Amino acid sequence: MYRTGFIFDLDGVIVDTAKYHYLAWRKLANELGFEFTEEQNELFKGVSRKRCLEILLDIGGITATTEEFNRWMVEKNEDYLAYIEKMDRSEILPKVEEVLSYIKSKGMPIALGSASKNAIPILEKVGLSSYFEVVVDGNQVTKAKPDPEVFLMAAEKLGVPAQNCVVFEDAVAGLEAANNADMVSIGIGDAQILTAADHVFNNFEEMDISFLDRLMQEGN
Ligand code: BG6
Ligand code: MG
Repeated sequence: MYRTGFIFDLDGVIVDTAKYHYLAWRKLANELGFEFTEEQNELFKGVSRKRCLEILLDIGGITATTEEFNRWMVEKNEDYLAYIEKMDRSEILPKVEEVLSYIKSKGMPIALGSASKNAIPILEKVGLSSYFEVVVDGNQVTKAKPDPEVFLMAAEKLGVPAQNCVVFEDAVAGLEAANNADMVSIGIGDAQILTAADHVFNNFEEMDISFLDRLMQEGN
């Protein structure tokens, strides 16, 4: 049987941590004296912490010294860690575990492909680590999404050719990374925003399990 590699983004796909990233960035923006909207936060999805701070400072028209820049990176992460400290299984997005479990039951390999440096502790907190054969996170990649590095590395570690991999993503940058990797891109979220995706579902509840069968049979 054809081996399809299933690669999942973490934030906003498996768990709803996008809201905590937003709250932490908004707190910093407010401290620096400007507003940061949810609409602007779309640009932050899938993007590395460092790049997010650069964009945030651009939005606020602020020029930071290296010392300030590094301090604000730490401050944002500490606030974010405080938000996620008490995370548990209740924060897994609807039907995610069913999807992971179904893919595993079919013997297909699963990887995580995330820009976050906090990915492993989050997977552990919500109790989903055992589904993932491979984890590629922000500690391993050098090029941020939309560069395909994170997904190509995941495919290589899974031992599956890139063209036989499927990526689930909630971020525009992540879908572009999947497309750049020549993988099937599946958007989870608003179809009007996620126009780069090959297929889009508002959430996993809207995706019929038979869709996964099709991905496996077609070998994409
Ligand atoms: C991505 C998020 O998964 O991880 C981004 O979508 C975030 O919003 C990035 O900036 C980096 O996360 P962390 O946990 O390393 O700050
Ligand atoms: Mg995401």
